[in-house]
Amino acid sequence: MSNVKETAVELRGISKYFSGTVANDKIDLEVKRGEVLALLGENGAGKTTLMRILYGMYRADEGEILIDGKPVTINSPYDAMNLGIGMIHQHFTLVPVHTVVENVMLGLDGPYDPGAVAEEIRTLGRRYGLEVDPYATVRLLPVGMQQRVEILKALIRKACILIMDEPTAVLTPQETDRLFDFVREFRSGGNSVVFITHKLNEVMNIADRITVLRAGRTVGSIPKVEASESALARMMVGRDLELTTGQPAKNVGEVVLDVDNIGVISSRGHRVIDGLSFQIRQGEILGIAGVSGNGQEELAEVLCGLRNAEEGDIRVSGKSIVNCAPLAIIAEGVGYIPSDRQSEGLVLDMTVAENLMLKGSSDPEFTKGRFLDMAAIEENASRQVHEFDIKTPSVSTRTKALSGGNQQKVVVAREIAIASKLLVAVQPTRGLDLGATDYVHRVLLRERDKGKAVLLISTELSEIMNLSDRIGVIYRGSLLRVFTRENADIGEIGLLMTGIRGESNE
Ligand SMILES: Nc1ncnc2c1ncn2[C@@H]1O[C@H](COP(=O)(O)OP(=O)(O)O)[C@@H](O)[C@H]1O
Ligand SMILES: [Mg+2]
Repeated sequence: MSNVKETAVELRGISKYFSGTVANDKIDLEVKRGEVLALLGENGAGKTTLMRILYGMYRADEGEILIDGKPVTINSPYDAMNLGIGMIHQHFTLVPVHTVVENVMLGLDGPYDPGAVAEEIRTLGRRYGLEVDPYATVRLLPVGMQQRVEILKALIRKACILIMDEPTAVLTPQETDRLFDFVREFRSGGNSVVFITHKLNEVMNIADRITVLRAGRTVGSIPKVEASESALARMMVGRDLELTTGQPAKNVGEVVLDVDNIGVISSRGHRVIDGLSFQIRQGEILGIAGVSGNGQEELAEVLCGLRNAEEGDIRVSGKSIVNCAPLAIIAEGVGYIPSDRQSEGLVLDMTVAENLMLKGSSDPEFTKGRFLDMAAIEENASRQVHEFDIKTPSVSTRTKALSGGNQQKVVVAREIAIASKLLVAVQPTRGLDLGATDYVHRVLLRERDKGKAVLLISTELSEIMNLSDRIGVIYRGSLLRVFTRENADIGEIGLLMTGIRGESNE
């Protein structure tokens, strides 16, 4: 019996340069028929770039592409589709105001009968467990459904090589399971999947073979049966890495944060937070799980004075801070790590030292009479750079010159200095590599153990499960339930994330 599979795609010596960056450096990669290849690597490793080259969105500066053993030129996604290649992007490319059928038909060759396309959508949906209403408006569909539409678009174009770029980032655990079912079903028909991810557990679950990229190069390619999570982590980061798991809180004290029945209306008049209440005590981390867009950002903004509440109260150590100005809330010892560090957390044109004191320019520690005390500012910065291991040529380097991980460390360092009572962290590890992610996790646990209250808001469920002492699930601006660490059940949390309540259904 031969289990040698035919090669569907071969990339040979692919290089791609962006100004100042070598995104892909002579990468070799092979995808076989009937195989799920996981393309694994940290953020910035070059995965998306490589697959955009295969999909005709970028031109390689060097190297060649072979499909079924024959050299090909792929100048556009149109060329790629004609060769049987489909790609599901990290950020969907659907037209939100159009229906599913209209979206699927966009760019199809020749005149098509919408009714026939709708029928095909239904047939393929049933065949692959990707059911979706062909006449639904895309904007009104949950993200998991929108992803199905993207996949159906590729299937209708007869893709036999499907590239999926971090497809589970927007899914609940149940939706992820369904997606994996689809991937297996699709593979069983002799098709190929390139599954891009930086999550080791997904690789072990779905891949037949794994190719690891690091800093634009191929580190290696191994069959799943020979792989382990720790070996893959080592390939990804280039050294051994012991990942932190949080120990339960030991000394839980007084209530620090008391959110009491708040309601928030968005600028477009929608109720984005609705009767939300919870408390966090000293020395504990409350994690908020949820699919993105269910009020998480708004909740953080209200807590930090960046948005007003229409109803309810927010108290920090008994003192009401609701609708107070951001600086007044900072003065109460509330630190805030925003999800978008580049636009909200940092002034990229300012130096590391300036960013580290940003909110403290009226602080007596940084002023001498009417003037800023530059010596004190630089001394403070040097101390923090050292303590948080921020890799920067100097404290007077502009922050935009730092890597994403080091920029995030600047934000974390400053906000922890502010957060004498409460730290609000929203997606604190988004876009960070494994090493920096682990570092931020350790810092959150350390601050908790020092007696601070921590609110961790994240769509990364593994992060929530790993660090939180209690876990709340947010859906459409309300907390559906708060679990303790011991009774947190990932299946139930996943259902709640989609708004489905368990047996205690009202
Ligand atoms: N359009 C672009 N312009 C400039 N640099 C880019 C562009 N796309 C990616 N890069 C850079 O190329 C490198 C690889 O990025 P990417 O392929 O997105 O990595 P991954 O998908 O593995 O996270 C990164 O350093 C990134 O900043
Ligand atoms: Mg990417």
